Amino acid sequence: MDISVTKNPAPKAKPDWKNLGFGEYFTDHMFMMDYATGKGWHDARIIPYGPLTMEPSAMVLHYAVEVFEGMKAYTCADGKIRLFRPLENAARLNRSAARFCMPPIPTEDFLTAICRLIRLDQDWVPKEEGTSLYIRPFMYSDQSNVGVRLPDLFKFVVILSPVGAYYKEGLNPVSIYVEDEYVRAARGGTGFTKCGGNYAASLIAQKKAKDLGYTQVLWLDGAERKYIEEVGTMNVMFKIGGEIVAPELGDSVLPGVTRNSALILLKSWGYKVAERKISVDELRDAAESGRLEEAFGTGTAAVISPIGLFNIQGKKLRVRDGKIGPVAQKLYDTITGIQWGTLPDTFGWTQEIN
Ligand code: COI
Repeated sequence: MDISVTKNPAPKAKPDWKNLGFGEYFTDHMFMMDYATGKGWHDARIIPYGPLTMEPSAMVLHYAVEVFEGMKAYTCADGKIRLFRPLENAARLNRSAARFCMPPIPTEDFLTAICRLIRLDQDWVPKEEGTSLYIRPFMYSDQSNVGVRLPDLFKFVVILSPVGAYYKEGLNPVSIYVEDEYVRAARGGTGFTKCGGNYAASLIAQKKAKDLGYTQVLWLDGAERKYIEEVGTMNVMFKIGGEIVAPELGDSVLPGVTRNSALILLKSWGYKVAERKISVDELRDAAESGRLEEAFGTGTAAVISPIGLFNIQGKKLRVRDGKIGPVAQKLYDTITGIQWGTLPDTFGWTQEIN
């Protein structure tokens, strides 16, 4: 893939690296390429970060023809910049795209685009402890047409954002409202994809949870409102009676890269791990009987986020007295240690940008 580069003539001042928050700052450049049926992907270019132009009739604005990814790059202890399991994101983007009849991106082009963009904006990869460069690749159709039809025109864009912790709580436990009114995903729907629409539909529940004083929502299955699926921006896991339980993946749960990495690590440490259905009743019983030893979320943005409190149908259940547990702490230390290059990468998960 040939990539033309137009440098930003007016680079921005860098943010305060110690107060990055999440997703507030963007680097000086972005990657973009176009797709047309019959022509394929073309015009790969790196250009100054700036507004996208499209017609008011662009299909993404009306029918949410959009999918995205979330991944990170890290300045490692040896000064090199590395990605974490980028091929997993490339594969997931293409699975999401297929669900929306969008064209796949060749894995090599996905990686090349990201590496070249980061190389150009490498001064934006933060070095402070707990920081990283969040990478947001996304694909959408800006075809002008208000008929509901398969588009022929798409764009693939990558933007970069230096970030700190996703939740203001950092590694302190978050509180979770178990949502039993609204539904995130139904069988046969788009729950397994990373599409903008999933998140748009979640905002009302997020608002409700926030208004009630909770950090996030925990979603139950769409058919019976019985089985635990995932948290707003993370997958979720529990330690119950010595065993790690992760809600099984189906077509309504996002197959998280951090979830998968955590399960591999837990198994390698000798934990008994079950990916199975877990009902909200089982969670409540476990919490009430003292068998719920830990609960935590996993996600690219949040990494590992311990859960200190659940609200299940108005009943407040505290986990570990609101303190982080040893499994969540060990997972956080190990995953971030591998990402920041302070621990050996025994599984070959990191990839230096070239
Ligand atoms: C991520 O963890 O990368 C996410 O996509 C979560 C959220 C910021 C949408």
